[in-house]
Amino acid sequence: MDECAADTVRAGLYDDLAGQIDGLLAHETNFTANLANAAAAIYHGLPALNWTGFYLLHGPVLVLGPFQGRPACVRIPMGKGVCGTAAEQRKSVLVPDVHAFPGHIACDSASRSELVVPLIRDETLIGVLDLDSPLLARFDARDQAGCEVLAAIIVRHLGSARPV
Ligand code: SME
Repeated sequence: MDECAADTVRAGLYDDLAGQIDGLLAHETNFTANLANAAAAIYHGLPALNWTGFYLLHGPVLVLGPFQGRPACVRIPMGKGVCGTAAEQRKSVLVPDVHAFPGHIACDSASRSELVVPLIRDETLIGVLDLDSPLLARFDARDQAGCEVLAAIIVRHLGSARPV
């Protein structure tokens, strides 16, 4: 498959996933339920992932939220690791090789690359969406753009209340 065809396939994958998540979350306002279903849809909808989930901001610390994959570290201070960096900068962080990222927090030793996208509503940081892959350089700019769209859909369907 040439690069152009691969782009088309990948765009279709994210379009499908966006529609699926929008449908799954549209009729529910429970914060935890919607994050749990979003994590499951992404984990099972994208190839070559070993962990997908959310870290949610509680004061100055990100705390583990709904996820799919092996048990993970629970608390990540703002600015630490890939998740804390994305949260602090309020920007997606794409890491082709986690071993080359200073301060990477290794929750699952199988993880080789990572993509973290912040969840922001009305300029308030809610947390981050974190995707891990056992493949080196699994994520590229198209995945980042696709996951940023998914994050926007997820944020739109989160009820205003959330567990503390
Ligand atoms: N690797 C992340 C920690 C979370 S796990 O990947 C699930 C980081 O460096 O922030």
